[in-house]
This record gives sequence, structure tokens and C-alpha cells, in this order.
Amino acid sequence: MRIIHAKNYDDMSRKAANIISAQVILKPDSVLGLATGTTPIGAYQQLIAWHQKGDVSFAEVSTYNLDEYRGLKHDEPQSYHYFMNEQFFSSIDIKPAHTHVPDGSNPDAEAACAEYDRLVEAAGYPDLQLLGIGNNGHIGFNEPDSVFSKGTHCVDLTESTIEANSRLFNSPDEVPRQAYTMGVQTIMQARSILVIASGSNKAQAVFDMCKGPVTPACPASILQLHPHAIVVADEDALSLF
Ligand code: PGA
Repeated sequence: MRIIHAKNYDDMSRKAANIISAQVILKPDSVLGLATGTTPIGAYQQLIAWHQKGDVSFAEVSTYNLDEYRGLKHDEPQSYHYFMNEQFFSSIDIKPAHTHVPDGSNPDAEAACAEYDRLVEAAGYPDLQLLGIGNNGHIGFNEPDSVFSKGTHCVDLTESTIEANSRLFNSPDEVPRQAYTMGVQTIMQARSILVIASGSNKAQAVFDMCKGPVTPACPASILQLHPHAIVVADEDALSLF
């Protein structure tokens, strides 16, 4: 894994945006795997700013997001689909039909996940997969477990994830208890992976991801086995190194 040191959140965001932008400039019809959460917002804002200056176009890009809450429709404000439209897609020139998020509104988990796997596979898997990392080492909604997950599947969220994500809901009770997420095996199919992390609350997870044993107890640790994984993390997130 290549570890790139950033000074702080803004520096991490610009470095991540530079890597994503370079990918799209080099291959305008790139398939991007994208992530939600607080961490990528700064990178998305930087990409929007460069797009508005005319420096980068997403007209031929297609995107596949990692995950979605089960039970939320794409136009519900807490859904990840809505988040992506608000934070990124509506401010760039990407074609809405080229953006993909698992269908949380489909109550048939098996069908929704199989359909998403079919789409990601048909697209040839991402050229670049952007990932945040959870405090517990999760990627997407692949929580610590005794085995690494495979394709897109329905997961029960852990209490720590529900708690961490409750800031976007009125109360923890409103956070959906399940989500559809790309599996670890799917994530590993991406040709390159970019993990971003900021803040001391991520320090243990970042250390375990990069330096700990490869174990499903820290799902992000599998990325040590990926041939092109880059971590861009700020000083606080790298404080245990
Ligand atoms: P965060 O979430 O960016 O909101 O910290 C990251 C994650 O849980 O993957």
C-alpha cells in the first residue's frame, strides 16, 4: 500500500481530488467507484470547483456507489443516492443515467444485490474505487466479521456504525438497521483503490488497515493485498505510525 501524508482535511481532500481528476483526464470514460460519508465531501467540492473552471469533465464517466440504506428511496434526504446528487452529481456534467447506487427501495434484498453485482460486473468494475474507512475498519458497510464478504449483500449495521451515522438523522432510532453494500471481493476487483482518512478517531483503523494482520476483523486490511492501493491520510489519522 502506498501511504501519502496530508497535513489536514483540506490537504487530504485536494490530494484525493487530484488523483481522481488525473484518472478522469487520462481516461475520460472512467468507471469510478464512489463513497458517501463526511470524508469525501471536501474532495467532491474540489472536483466541482475544477469542473466549473473547465479543468475536468465527467460527461463520459460512470459511477457505482458502494452502498445504500435498505428501505430508503433514492429521493429521501438521508439516502446515499440523495447525498451523492446533493454533494456531487448535480454540480458536475455527469449523465444521471451513468450514476448508480444500490436500490435501497427494493425490499427484495437478494434481487437488489444480484442486480447491482450484474451492473458493476457489466461495467467492467471500477478503474478507481474511492473508499472512506469506518472507526472499526469497515469499508462500504462491510463490518468486522469472521470472514471477508464477497458480492453485494444485505448487512445488519453494527451499533457503532449506527451511532456514527446518526448525526445525519434526527435520532439514532431513525437510522436504518440494514444496508446493501458491495462486498469486499467486489471492491478488490477495482483496478486501483484510493482510501481517504482524516482525524484522530480514524487513527487505529488506519494503522490496522496498513500495518495490522490481514483479517476480516478489520475489513480494510484486505487492501494490503491489492496491487494498486493508495491511502491519503492526514497527520491525525496517521498519528499511530
Ligand atoms: P465518514 O465515514 O467519512 O463519515 O467518517 C467513513 C466510513 O464509514 O466509511
